[in-house]
Amino acid sequence: MISGYEPPALPETHYLDNRIFTDAAIFAQEQKDIYERVWLFICHESELAAPGDFRTASVAGKPVVLVRGTDGVIRAFYNVCRHRAAPVVREEAGNATEFQCFYHLWTYGLDGACTGITKPGGYDAVQLDRSKLGLIPVRCDSIAGLVFVCLSEETEPLEDYIGPIIDSVREPLGTASLSVFHYNKAELGANWKLWQDNNSERYHSLLHFINRKTQPWVIAKTSPMKLRLFDNGHSGYWSDADATVTYDAGGYKDASVGTLPGMRDNEMRVINIFPDLMINIRANVVRLDRMVPIAPGKTLVEWRGLGLTDVPEAVEKDRLRHHNMFWGPAGRNLGEDVIAVEAQWASMATDVVRYSILAREEDLNPTDDANVRAYYQEWGRRMGRAPHAPLNSG
Ligand code: FES
Ligand SMILES: [Fe+2]
Repeated sequence: MISGYEPPALPETHYLDNRIFTDAAIFAQEQKDIYERVWLFICHESELAAPGDFRTASVAGKPVVLVRGTDGVIRAFYNVCRHRAAPVVREEAGNATEFQCFYHLWTYGLDGACTGITKPGGYDAVQLDRSKLGLIPVRCDSIAGLVFVCLSEETEPLEDYIGPIIDSVREPLGTASLSVFHYNKAELGANWKLWQDNNSERYHSLLHFINRKTQPWVIAKTSPMKLRLFDNGHSGYWSDADATVTYDAGGYKDASVGTLPGMRDNEMRVINIFPDLMINIRANVVRLDRMVPIAPGKTLVEWRGLGLTDVPEAVEKDRLRHHNMFWGPAGRNLGEDVIAVEAQWASMATDVVRYSILAREEDLNPTDDANVRAYYQEWGRRMGRAPHAPLNSG
């Protein structure tokens, strides 16, 4: 009798045990062994443009606040009061000259220093030292305008962690003034890895009505765009040749108004940074996805649309329309992906079919599974678990 628990007769790298997406112990370990150890994208630096601009975020389940100081430096701290551990900043984003904890009103400067203790005389007897009670700092750094934090002191510097893949997007992201023109977030009923997987895996372009008409790797048997694999589980695809997406065929006339520096009209470049950042550039817009794992089957995803800051209003309108028709919450592409991964996770969680097949080999054509395999191999390396047999010891 055919069993859904029979491992496929494939090399071990070419299939996954689906319990990496559903097992609660694996989910908890990921927070410690991945999310607490790597550099994680938080926001674009234009979202912290002025001194005092701040933004809060959940990082490996811990509350963090990022703020631009009066010296122009963006810093990050755990958003937890040193008095009795209440959250200090309770808004998602804003501008402040200082932070005041709402519970007993202790205050902190934008540099994290504890600047005020209410009714301080009560601590005279014990000589409480305010200078030692600043907010706990978190490593924070930027690359090409993207702001990252890292909870571990041992992890390599951001530039080394990201590595040379960033060179492919330095010009469009890092040489002109960009700002966020679209933002939305939603909780998906799926494991966080499935969203990054979907953002990396091009074989499912067949799902998308629009991609079947517009994407070079679907229209042609092979595509001049190739997958590119890098250290630390990062990957991407772009073309040095003249490979463009035929947006016109999908009804997106003039989809390239306001093209970013270094990009060709209708060019597409995608890079996927391990574990949870996608940078997807479509000539004039950049889509950034960030994931916050909540439970094995629940993930908060944030979507940002970035574009040139100084464009005429007509270009801005056109760009927003194109962005949202394709990638907005009710757009043609994004909504189909959400339906796919939520249905996939729910079906996976029944444990009827235990294994997923990642066995396409196509000489790094975008529908090759090589990038997705590399992603899960990196996951396995960091977790000390084989993705094809994660619950087997030894
Ligand atoms: S917990 Fe913050 S002031 Fe008391
Ligand atoms: Fe998709």
